[in-house]
Amino acid sequence: MEKYVILGGARLEGEVDISGAKNSAVALIVASVMVKGVCKIENVPLVSDTYVLCDIINQLGGQAELSDKGVATIDCTNLDNFEASFETVGKIRASSYFMGALLGRFHHARVALPGGCDFGVRPIDLHLKGFSRLGASHSIENGVVDIQAENLAGASVYMDTVSVGATINIMLAGALSEGTTIIENAAKEPHIVDVANFLNSMGANIKGAGTDVIKIKGVESLHGGTYSVIPDQIEAGTFMVAAAITNGNVLIKNVIPKHLDSISAKLMEIGVTVEEYDDSVRVIGTDRVIRANVKTMPHPGFPTDMQPQMVTLLALGDGTSIVTENVWDNRFKYIDELTKMGANIRVDGRTAVIEGVEKLSGAPVSSTDLRAGAAMVLAGLAAQGVTEVYNLKYIDRGYEKFEEKLRSLGAQIARRSTDDTTPARKSKTA
Ligand code: EPZ
Repeated sequence: MEKYVILGGARLEGEVDISGAKNSAVALIVASVMVKGVCKIENVPLVSDTYVLCDIINQLGGQAELSDKGVATIDCTNLDNFEASFETVGKIRASSYFMGALLGRFHHARVALPGGCDFGVRPIDLHLKGFSRLGASHSIENGVVDIQAENLAGASVYMDTVSVGATINIMLAGALSEGTTIIENAAKEPHIVDVANFLNSMGANIKGAGTDVIKIKGVESLHGGTYSVIPDQIEAGTFMVAAAITNGNVLIKNVIPKHLDSISAKLMEIGVTVEEYDDSVRVIGTDRVIRANVKTMPHPGFPTDMQPQMVTLLALGDGTSIVTENVWDNRFKYIDELTKMGANIRVDGRTAVIEGVEKLSGAPVSSTDLRAGAAMVLAGLAAQGVTEVYNLKYIDRGYEKFEEKLRSLGAQIARRSTDDTTPARKSKTA
């Protein structure tokens, strides 16, 4: 097992390149099983989730290879297996996309129920409702969902709750259904648009992605092609907060500034400078950010995947801030860890009331999920003294070369084995 050892206090300065969007890449990799041809997906982040999904495709009988340059080459032309029910499938949330992809191609899918980060129930009722609207029936037993349809016929699907995963899954199944599928109250995240653009480049006919209504005209089959993943909005936001919380000055490159609007707006509201360029943003910190209220919402609202990072920044803010988590019902578990570092935060259901403190002090803390783990690192960068962050497996799922990128900006951070007791020292490798 490994941990991060971080010596706080360094102001981050310099430039950092953002990788491809993890939440887009995982959907595109799985969508490739629908394609009779070779898919080349570029700018794939090298994180454990993308490797695991390529392994699953190989276990399914397809061919998937992820190069160290971040190019996934996937050929499922001869795939004839709709059974993704083995153990690795249940380990990551993105496996849920095998339901829509295999159902779309084979009219049958058997998929191990998806796992994923632990912040409340991860239901799939909206996914299954969408499939049944297309004519599929399902049963769940022994942790495997079995979905099948004589025929998949396009239909209108109204999403009771805005759901990224369900929107993508219904788009996948609809792409190869007969007739037209209309998804209303669809999720509008940048990665929804990326999946639609990917499918269209492979021969699908999808319009309206990025709006509340997505129209999918089913086609016979999808052909191979090349596609490049959009930049990661949440990785970019994480580095924006890293610059802010260390009162640094960082140019964050390979981004789509439009995707960062809600994050940039909130940072500027609390006194951070954000300068937007064509494909980069510069973030300049301030001595102490001002209090603010934050409500997480589906895109284009403030992203829930930036909630832990923003709470950590406001924990050092001047005044009382209120953060409301409107997407997940239990995404404040990490606050107990922040409290160990001296944060003063009271959680009441979906609301966190943050009394800003002057400083945080280093401590051993654990990552409770992917974004909470990143937030612990941000806290360590700003804290006085040494912070050790455990459970790196979560961070490794979604951040490519995280410590290397932070170190290149001057952070004193090193990855060590958990039984390594070498004291952190003022040096490049903490
Ligand atoms: C995706 O999860 C992301 N994961 C999550 O990011 C992100 O937090 C979430 O979207 C919201 O943006 C991936 O893309 C792999 P949802 P997903 O379906 O699709 C409820 C990260 O940090 N819901 O949009 O699982 C659900 O309980 C991860 O990168 C149902 O009720 O999220 C939640 O309250 C963490 N029934 C809300 O909808 C369903 O069938 C939004 O969930 C599905 C969802």
